[in-house]
Amino acid sequence: MKATKKHKRVFTHFLCFLCLFVAVLLATASQSPRPASVEQRVNALLARMTLEEKLGQLQQLDGEANGNFRPEHLELIRQGRLGSTLNVRGAQRTNQVQRVAMNESRLKIPVLFGFDVIHGYRTIFPIPLAEAASWDPSVAERSAAVAAQEARNSGVHWTFAPMVDIARDPRWGRITEGAGEDPFLGAAFARARVRGFQGNDYSAADKVLACAKHWVVYGAAEGGRDYNTTEVSENTLREIYFPPFKAAVDAGVGTLMSSFNAINGVPATANEFTLTRVLRQEWKFDGFVVSDYTSVRELINHGIAANEEEAAAAALNAGVEMEMVSRSYNAFGAKLLQEKKLSQATIDEAVRRVLRIKFRLGLFDRPYTDEAGEANALLRPESVRMAREAAGRSMVLLKNDRETLPLSKNIGSIAVIGPLADDRAAQLSCWAGDGHEQDMVSPLAGIKAKVSAQTMVLYAKGCDAKGDSTAGFQQAVEVAKKADVAIVVVGETADMVGEAASRSTIDLPGRQLELVQAIQATGKPTVVVLVNGRPLAIPWIAGNVPAILESWMGGIQGGNAIADVLFGDVNPGGKLPATFPRSTGQIPIYYNHFNTGRPPEAENKYTSKYLDVPWTPLFPFGYGLSYTQFKISNLQLSAPRIAANGKLTVNVEVENAGRRAGDEVVQLYIRDPVATMSRPVKELKGFQRVTLQPGEKRRVEFVLDREHLGFWNREMRYVVEPGEFRVMVGANSVDVLEAKFHVDAP
Ligand code: NOJ
Repeated sequence: MKATKKHKRVFTHFLCFLCLFVAVLLATASQSPRPASVEQRVNALLARMTLEEKLGQLQQLDGEANGNFRPEHLELIRQGRLGSTLNVRGAQRTNQVQRVAMNESRLKIPVLFGFDVIHGYRTIFPIPLAEAASWDPSVAERSAAVAAQEARNSGVHWTFAPMVDIARDPRWGRITEGAGEDPFLGAAFARARVRGFQGNDYSAADKVLACAKHWVVYGAAEGGRDYNTTEVSENTLREIYFPPFKAAVDAGVGTLMSSFNAINGVPATANEFTLTRVLRQEWKFDGFVVSDYTSVRELINHGIAANEEEAAAAALNAGVEMEMVSRSYNAFGAKLLQEKKLSQATIDEAVRRVLRIKFRLGLFDRPYTDEAGEANALLRPESVRMAREAAGRSMVLLKNDRETLPLSKNIGSIAVIGPLADDRAAQLSCWAGDGHEQDMVSPLAGIKAKVSAQTMVLYAKGCDAKGDSTAGFQQAVEVAKKADVAIVVVGETADMVGEAASRSTIDLPGRQLELVQAIQATGKPTVVVLVNGRPLAIPWIAGNVPAILESWMGGIQGGNAIADVLFGDVNPGGKLPATFPRSTGQIPIYYNHFNTGRPPEAENKYTSKYLDVPWTPLFPFGYGLSYTQFKISNLQLSAPRIAANGKLTVNVEVENAGRRAGDEVVQLYIRDPVATMSRPVKELKGFQRVTLQPGEKRRVEFVLDREHLGFWNREMRYVVEPGEFRVMVGANSVDVLEAKFHVDAP
């Protein structure tokens, strides 16, 4: 008996072991061979490429001409001489082009389709400057995610966004495309947009490859004139202009675009310092850099290359891997190699970087876009809803005397006046992707849809945004006289913002100010709604009109979002991401300036100021009101002293002391008052947008450490210097509570 039992046990053990063995065997057999890594695939492919094919991967051309793909580009693709296009989009169109690469070219390297998806692809979101005014990076992350989903489903792999240029000069038209004047806010938005576009894995069917641009310091164009030169110290580069790019690189951005401008005499497209030393060596960036549109050839105009051949050598050797539109790499690459002005290693490294990104995008495995899925991906109701919410969160209430706003939806009559009131193109703004003007909701339409059936809405344009005629004033005044309240919508048209749209003055263009004055003179309660893409100088309006709403250019739902705010369905909580000057002559005026040896004093003539305008801005950085009132109090620090590599916790109490739920953006600034180099009078180092119910109180906490307290010293080393620091917390960059702490010597 015993023996039988034992035998049984042994047999059972044997059976178990056998099962396990068979299972392992089966599992191993069913496993495909371990997939080659991206690097292995890149190197294997590179080894098979001719020089011509390699140079082809470094070429990007503008594929669209009057709505048609250029046939000569198809031939280049067939020959393996064109790796990427811009502006070609639509699932059907991109597939058509891709088929040529996949079926007719020798190596079947997929084409990379790039497009400027800046604030939406088809569902157009508010301009990036507006989204930065939300001081809520999740707004930008969500809008980038919607843009990515629409774009990828339309065959676009790569967006030339986010634009993360810091802009301290509102004359520059491209301030619209970025997050404003501050590097800390800019870095937060850069990170958020990269995350939104790329996700964790940009090979996903609803993600695109992002491109942080314009590397670098393009926003410091002298005089705010687009494409102009820049002179900026290395300290300022590192502290003001680099941080949003660093944030984008740390967030995994796959590409950067080199900018048009020169930096201290060396064009950004041939700048070994920024492209190679900083980006690749210091930051370990392993993606690729694309030039801006013809910026390689423009090295000739810059005067650092005598011809295209020299331009190609300068750009490629400095670290620009892909040439947009001009063709000097392709034309002269072989000759430069032969003459040893370009090495094989440089070319191979450039190609390797481009291929690496194509592999990461999954293009070799899934080169085509599902044509049936495209229509369903566009303008989804939830995307449109998110655009409306984003626009609402971006608006900034600049003035609201005597609680002029919000208005009652049951008001008897409203006059909606002004050249931007019924301008849908202005809501679309610049770089509108594949957005359609007819999808946009104008402010007038938004207001009409919001008010009660009994409310009479009267409309008069008054004047053009830019023209010189005042012929429409009389009708506008009559309309205002008939109404209980006048809403005057003024600002800038779409073509006044974005690329090549710098202005020499940031006043309201045309006769719009006079229109506002004429309406205000009727004595009717007047609300000014600004539709614009840059800070404007509006001192008269700020001094005389009781309510001002900065609505920016709000995208597809801009008009509805304006109505949401005007009528109180949304309580505005945005804050200015850029200083609003009193006049153009004050520019540059930004909050994080240096103190100078003679900071302005009213009683002392010989201090740093103008004779004819106060030294303060009209509205400071970080400024914005709400329909409720907030109190910020009880600033507390976790310790009076910290070590140079220590941490300090700062917290403050915020209370909604009013009668409506609302949002406050609590902002933290620091100052290092005595250091081996002058430090800014204030630097933003923390912010949080919080929603509070009436009467609700909350503690908001920030942590400061080495990353926030240091700077680049004279030896160009990042240091935290011991000594006293000030910490300031408030609802904008001016109205702050202040405390001090000490950083101990290491
Ligand atoms: C020129 C602009 O500077 C850049 O921002 C844009 O991405 C390219 N053109 C491509 O359209």
